[in-house]
Amino acid sequence: MTSEARIKQLTEEINYHLYRYHVLDSPIISDAEYDELYRELLALEESHPDLVTPDSPTQRAGAEPLVAFEKVTHPAPILSLANAFNEEDLRAWRTRIGRLLPNPDLRLDYVVEPKLDGLTVVLTYQDGIFVQGATRGNGVVGENITKNLRTIDSLPRRIPVDPNSDLTPPPTIVIRGEVFFPLDKFEVLNAARLAAGDPLYMNPRNTAAGSLRQLDPAKTAERSLTLYCYDFITWEGIALPDQQWERLDLLRRLGFPVSPDNVYCQRIEQVAGIYQQWIEKRNQINYEVDGVVVKINDRPLADSLGFSGKDPRGSIAMKFPAQEKTTKLLDVQVNVGRTGILAPAAVLEAVEIGGVIVRNATLHNYDEIDRKDIRIGDTVLVKRAGDVIP
Ligand code: IVH
Repeated sequence: MTSEARIKQLTEEINYHLYRYHVLDSPIISDAEYDELYRELLALEESHPDLVTPDSPTQRAGAEPLVAFEKVTHPAPILSLANAFNEEDLRAWRTRIGRLLPNPDLRLDYVVEPKLDGLTVVLTYQDGIFVQGATRGNGVVGENITKNLRTIDSLPRRIPVDPNSDLTPPPTIVIRGEVFFPLDKFEVLNAARLAAGDPLYMNPRNTAAGSLRQLDPAKTAERSLTLYCYDFITWEGIALPDQQWERLDLLRRLGFPVSPDNVYCQRIEQVAGIYQQWIEKRNQINYEVDGVVVKINDRPLADSLGFSGKDPRGSIAMKFPAQEKTTKLLDVQVNVGRTGILAPAAVLEAVEIGGVIVRNATLHNYDEIDRKDIRIGDTVLVKRAGDVIP
């Protein structure tokens, strides 16, 4: 086999194993076997630099730092949604839609997706190859962050990812997704910073945003970012199904990571139930959600409803109650942990956050308290992360 053919084969294989590992969560080879394939590809590419392709998995961290981000104009506006805050708002949305339908009682079905608290990205694939990734920017013009996005393991560099797929790569598709920092990885990052005496990061969203906008892709590669995709912005040479539910499935079959928490709902009553369930479970999953997005499953019908201002009428964002409140710091106590570690804890004026009364908060360590200059009597911003232990 020629080097060129072997490089092509290895690229395909490694990309498929990355997909098995990061998207499907079901690897079929061991880490050591993976490393072996990767090293073989790396060695071949080193001796044939002209044969390095943009979809090569080695292109994760090797890129040169940029001086500034290029601007890119999106092929279609990257829109946002109107908000609802409770079941009543949801009903009102359904009633408004009804007025625009020939029959207000027309049976509609829905897809309810977690509203990921991350950063929107716009991903362009040409002949199946990931060629450009951009931030949302102002919705019309974003920034070219292709090199940074290539460092994300779960982002397909070539579609369909599965070499045995019966799908053929479309000439052009542009996909919308949300990049985020998984909470377990965020905690690991902050723990390492704490140990190194570096200031802690405030929250996963801002950290994900900062990581994506690094001019040096090697910095982005150090962060464990991932993404979920949920929409086609434009497409060419591929027949899209009419249903949002089917479109999500198509995204999955092409190899894009899609949230496993999306739900199909036959009726609006079910949508309200899912929203309530999410409020309960939002603190038990490994990513931050700030609401659910309710979408009319019939996309051509949804699109035909047009816009209210800039917001498409066919979907609505149902936000969750805030998980941040301000309160007063009453005292700082020191607890002795199981391993003998001294852990300072804040005693707070009781405050209700997301249906739970919070009276205590961990303070990480004295350096952190010192750095933030926290004093008794201060007003502090308390953020609920995870389930509160009463
Ligand atoms: S649909 C016009 N689906 O939440 C279509 N958005 O206001 C609008 N988001 O700016 C987007 N997860 O950045 C959609 N599953 C999801 C989403 C989602 C997060 C973000 C998105 C958008 C905002 C909605």
